[in-house]
Amino acid sequence: MTRRGRGRTTALPRVDAARTAAFDVLRAVDERDSYANLVLPGLLREREITGRDAALATELVYGTLRGLGTYDAVLAACLDRAPEALDPPVLDVLRLGAHQVLGTRIPPHAAVDTTVGLARARVGEGPGKLVNAVMRRLSRHDMAGWIDQLAPPASTDPLERLALQHSHPPWIVRALLDALGGDESELAAALAADNERPFVTLVARPGRAEVSELVAAGASPAHWSPYAAVLGEGDPAAIPAVRERRAGVQDEGSQLVALALATAPLNGPDRRWLDMCAGPGGKAALLAGLATLRDARLLAVERQPHRARMVEAALRGDPGRHRVVVADATEPLDGEDPFDRILLDAPCTGLGALRRRPEARWRRRPSDLPALRSLQISLLRAALSAVRPGGLVAYVTCSPHLAETTTVVTDVLRGRPDVERVDARACLPGVPDLGDGPEIQLWPHRHGTDAMFLALLRREPIG
Ligand SMILES: C[S@@+](CC[C@H](N)C(=O)[O-])C[C@H]1O[C@@H](n2cnc3c(N)ncnc32)[C@H](O)[C@@H]1O
Repeated sequence: MTRRGRGRTTALPRVDAARTAAFDVLRAVDERDSYANLVLPGLLREREITGRDAALATELVYGTLRGLGTYDAVLAACLDRAPEALDPPVLDVLRLGAHQVLGTRIPPHAAVDTTVGLARARVGEGPGKLVNAVMRRLSRHDMAGWIDQLAPPASTDPLERLALQHSHPPWIVRALLDALGGDESELAAALAADNERPFVTLVARPGRAEVSELVAAGASPAHWSPYAAVLGEGDPAAIPAVRERRAGVQDEGSQLVALALATAPLNGPDRRWLDMCAGPGGKAALLAGLATLRDARLLAVERQPHRARMVEAALRGDPGRHRVVVADATEPLDGEDPFDRILLDAPCTGLGALRRRPEARWRRRPSDLPALRSLQISLLRAALSAVRPGGLVAYVTCSPHLAETTTVVTDVLRGRPDVERVDARACLPGVPDLGDGPEIQLWPHRHGTDAMFLALLRREPIG
């Protein structure tokens, strides 16, 4: 590629495919509010980027997005203006450079040179000079040096320091601390775990695939879910059972909360199961497999039509037995008899899956909580109306934030003496560190799973 300038033609630097791809994903995340984990795989495929280049592009995208808060604080110290005052593409080049210098083993001189090359190739010569100057200032310290320079001492403001050190917004640091019962000694481990790349966990859908099949394809059995296998390396789509939808990608924590609902003791009929918020269908597919084996039927409800279609695709293995409907689950379901087991996997902030959604921690705001919480309360009330006396409701979130977990349950159960909190720990035998109960909070740093919350509720039988 060349650029013409004042009568001469200057050759633009060639930038490697991995860094260019990483830059383009960061632009998509910024400009179109895209999700990196959705954009990146398609872009790698389209450009035929594989092997080490694909691994580097992935590391650069995820690392840069996770570290954004810390990198912007460092950049602010290297600039004569606020980072947000820069042209967004220039800021993305600098963030990508900051991650390479401060968050990877790439030698600093190589990180600086390739970042300046990327700036010249993609945003122009003028910004290239600025990027050069900023990158040189930034490489004067390593990450520990910058933290010492920019963060308050742990003795003065430990949370603010941890927020910068582990690149989390302070409000999320406080929320995790509250969910850990105020245990500051565990907080650093919880924050660090959010910055680790999670393994890909697979689920062998009951009755349709076996874990042994996934193990033969290179995965290893997981810790607790008898349906889970961990894929250390490789593309899940290369495994025939995954391609045929007899298996899927699903966090072990998501499997455990669905299994707890399915295996909790229940007196009386056990034929009618409901998944109230089913899209895109991961838990519905696991429950449907178990329901089929027990001659039960699952009704999967989802408000968004396109997500309901994803649930239909996930349930295709057993046509006729299970149904998917598009409906608002806060409203009574037309013509439906009460259900025996209900999963309410409520819409939430997703703060329990920050490992997988690198940009989520910067997109979410505390102001998102009130609307989500009020929806969670309405859905839980609707679940308790839809379950039969003696039946079970599992209230699940992929967030450990107390405003979405125990306090929702407590608020809904106030004035409901007919609902019993079941000790959910008994439904996950062998899983350690589940706390004092009766609810369960899983954690990436304790269990290697997403931070799933589960409350198991039983409506008292009549009489
Ligand atoms: C946390 S996700 C569920 C994930 C799903 N259980 C799985 O394992 O794949 C929550 C889902 O609830 C849906 N939803 C939100 N409000 C709803 C409502 N009022 N009624 C039904 N579904 C709703 C969202 O569209 C979203 O698909």
